[in-house]
Amino acid sequence: MPIKKENILIVDDDYDMLELLQRNLDSHNFHTYKAASVTDAIDILKTSRIHLLITDLQMPGINGMELIKYVEEHFPDIPKLVITGFPSVDGAVNAVKSGALDYLVKPFTRDELTEAVEKSLKHSKVTPEAEKKVSGAGESYAGMTGSSEKFEEMIDLIDRVKNNRATILIQGESGTGKELVARAIHYKGTFAANPFIAVNCGAIPENLLEAELFGHVKGAFTGATETRKGFFQAAAGGTIFLDEIGTAPANVQTSLLRVLQEKEVRMLGAQKAEKIQIRIIAATNSDLFQMAEKGSFRKDLYYRLNVVNINTPPLRERKEDIPLLVKNFIRKYGMEYNRPNLTISEKAIQLLHRHSWPGNIRELENVVQRAIIMSERSIELEHFPDYLKYPAPTPNSDDLHKPLKEIEKEYILKVLASVGNNKTKAAEILQIDRKTLRQKLH
Ligand SMILES: Nc1ncnc2c1ncn2[C@@H]1O[C@H](COP(=O)(O)OP(=O)(O)OP(=O)(O)O)[C@@H](O)[C@H]1O
Ligand SMILES: [Mg+2]
Repeated sequence: MPIKKENILIVDDDYDMLELLQRNLDSHNFHTYKAASVTDAIDILKTSRIHLLITDLQMPGINGMELIKYVEEHFPDIPKLVITGFPSVDGAVNAVKSGALDYLVKPFTRDELTEAVEKSLKHSKVTPEAEKKVSGAGESYAGMTGSSEKFEEMIDLIDRVKNNRATILIQGESGTGKELVARAIHYKGTFAANPFIAVNCGAIPENLLEAELFGHVKGAFTGATETRKGFFQAAAGGTIFLDEIGTAPANVQTSLLRVLQEKEVRMLGAQKAEKIQIRIIAATNSDLFQMAEKGSFRKDLYYRLNVVNINTPPLRERKEDIPLLVKNFIRKYGMEYNRPNLTISEKAIQLLHRHSWPGNIRELENVVQRAIIMSERSIELEHFPDYLKYPAPTPNSDDLHKPLKEIEKEYILKVLASVGNNKTKAAEILQIDRKTLRQKLH
């Protein structure tokens, strides 16, 4: 897929509609920001390059028409697409229908949405091409290595969001670099000089988390002998990284929602809340959307967190990054273990390329680090753990009825096929000599 194109800001107080629009637009390779209120939308407009605004008209508080006026005044280059449920009764729609703006009436189909978006974007005076990519990630960016398309896309996204304070949800499997991405956003952005505070919500006992995050005043609870700031106050002006957000208990979820809505934090036991300027980045390796659907995570909080969504792709989907990563780890640990001239054999690289890496980059890094310790001048197959060399075939239920000999035969044939029928290579992987292999093949 090509690098993501235009930045589209979607504004709607209906979370389901926001999600629907985001999914559709993301699938067309646009980059979306979501806002559930006009004030949130204005925050994003002030800090990010937006190429198209899609907004609902009826919203509690300040309505969509006000937002449109604001954009016309402050960002006349941004085209506006209005989504409306009541075309006949809404007075504002007349203005829309007069041709001043594009509009789309609910319910609409995917195709109608795409068509309307493409049409509106034609009115945009600034194209992303004209702005040109700024990342120039090359092979390394804020401590992250890669050159695959997936990696480049991720870096491109980081570049787009780093200078604003929009809330970000990072999702990805364990060991895919979620924390590195969060740090990159902070340290590459405008507020890098301010604090970055990482909080692992899963590692702090549930009953303490709220006080740790928001602080408490003296006497707030038994044992609160003095007033203490929380992580939020400590990170003011900068970024708070809420790792493993899926584990946050209900009381913390409720308080977080309030912070996101009101942009203020109230210490436990305090009378008054205090305004705070902070970027919130949350991360999880669980499917938060599913959790929200099932009711184990607050839906409204999920949407508030997911203003910008970044997915860290698993290593098996960007295998072309493996050699580069390995080279970097060898350089890094080679220095650390005083082995600056260490090399790695082609076979060893091939093995690393074949593995499916359920533990992702962390697993790769550990494997390479261990191999460096074990090796002398060059990293060879023998320096890798057995589970890499002899991966357990994943049994399906049919296999469970087969005799061992048959499974063995199938496995040997699979290994042979994987090395282009080269018996020496197959014997090496199976760790049997060639003669035994020949016998078994018989
Ligand atoms: N692109 C990369 N280049 C080099 N090293 C990386 C890259 N991505 C991740 N790593 C390394 O992989 C390890 C895991 O990264 P990180 O802790 O950011 O992952 P995570 O997604 O937060 O994992 P978890 O879900 O287990 O918390 C770290 O040691 C990190 O330095
Ligand atoms: Mg992590």
